[in-house]
Amino acid sequence: MVTVLVGTQWGDEGKGKVIDFLAAEQDIVARYQGGANAGHTVYVNGKKFVFHLIPSGILRKDIICILGNGVVIDPVTLFDEIESLENQGFDVTSRLIIAENAHLTLSFHKILDQIEDQKRGAGKLGTTGRGIGSTYADKADRSGIRVVDLLNEEVFHRKLAISLELKNHLLREYYQETPFSAEQVAKEYQKFREKFAPMAKNSAAFLHTAISEGKKILAEGAQGTFLDIDFGTYPFVTASNPISGGACTGLGIGPKSIQRIIGIAKAYTTRVGMGPFPTELSDTTGETLRTAGNEFGATTGRPRRCGWFDAPLVRFAGKLNGLDELVVTKLDVLSNIPSLKIGVEYRYKGMTLEAYPFNSEVFDHLEVVYKEMPGWNEDISSASSYAELPQNAKRYLQKIEETTEVPITYISVGTGREQMFRI
Ligand code: GDP
Ligand code: IMO
Ligand code: MG
Repeated sequence: MVTVLVGTQWGDEGKGKVIDFLAAEQDIVARYQGGANAGHTVYVNGKKFVFHLIPSGILRKDIICILGNGVVIDPVTLFDEIESLENQGFDVTSRLIIAENAHLTLSFHKILDQIEDQKRGAGKLGTTGRGIGSTYADKADRSGIRVVDLLNEEVFHRKLAISLELKNHLLREYYQETPFSAEQVAKEYQKFREKFAPMAKNSAAFLHTAISEGKKILAEGAQGTFLDIDFGTYPFVTASNPISGGACTGLGIGPKSIQRIIGIAKAYTTRVGMGPFPTELSDTTGETLRTAGNEFGATTGRPRRCGWFDAPLVRFAGKLNGLDELVVTKLDVLSNIPSLKIGVEYRYKGMTLEAYPFNSEVFDHLEVVYKEMPGWNEDISSASSYAELPQNAKRYLQKIEETTEVPITYISVGTGREQMFRI
């Protein structure tokens, strides 16, 4: 049985925490897209873990973790993470399977990503600088280098030389930057060959067997629906498909093997990097949310932009992902805000917009209609059931459910594993 978990906003919805919670009843947790741009935070017994590549299920004993073919893998980050976890007593290498056909993010991808975003000037995307766009560009361009290519020294050298020929020309002539030496890069990465070897497999075939044996598999999405390269606020998006459909292409499983699709939404909205954000708050309430929610990027440390909950956005995410249910996180952060707002409708030039706008000109000039609701002052971080929530918190959740048209099944009220309950 496959369950897909996907972010319904612009990332950082609390996917890491929810995956860790749900992993208690799973056999396998598999990441299906993105790379080290992700920052998934999990707190267990007050101890903080941030995962950029390793699936957030790794902290649960006996869980097998997979990095699927749709993930772009930076060996440096991956083996730093593995080493750090193993130093803390977690057995990772024997429980991690890496898709042989996953593409690698190498040093030059990271440099190119940073240079290219700088070069965009006023139109910069504010990428994480982790080489994500440049790795997926190579993949689409058929010049990418995969895990299986690194395993063979001769193939790795040959592919590096081909890949760097054009890039070096671009670096020298256009960016006026130092070119890369294929020999140097090959030397830098050769130590990873042996490290990858025992974990590199046909992970799709492994999953097919697991599915036929009735194993419980949780597919972990990174980023969020509106960072999706097809359906997000293009061009202010990432380079992969975080939406649930991405789980099929990013793991090599058929759509019919997916039984449950869970969306995660923060009780308000945040975004890191550039791009439209209709319910953004540039006032003190925005700052209050940033402080109370500790809204600073888990990967880059950048302050996250904060705003009200955007129901038309999450409603569209419900359709794009085929959501069965919604998990609402960070409800505790809204305590002590006297009056809360939920964006319930988009208008453009005075007319209600029925469809999500793909035209960024329209997106930038949207007018949002809000439903204002009274807040609550109680600290709800130790609530362990829906019944314990203040009336106004219940009304707020009911409004989210009504306007997004997705049933809410779990609420999260704090960073800890135990601060989450089923409705
Ligand atoms: P992800 O990328 O979706 O995994 O989310 P991040 O880890 O980047 O950001 C979510 C942040 O919110 C992390 O620091 C979490 O520890 C924290 N968090 C998750 N759920 C809750 C919650 O219910 N309440 C509070 N206060 N913090 C939460
Ligand atoms: P998690 O998995 C929030 C954003 C970047 C930038 C845009 C493109 O932790 O939710 P990229 O480096 O992917 O080319 O950057 O996407 N971004 C994220 N924002 N959470 C993330 O991941 C993100 N991964 C990328 O800030 O705006
Ligand atoms: Mg994050």
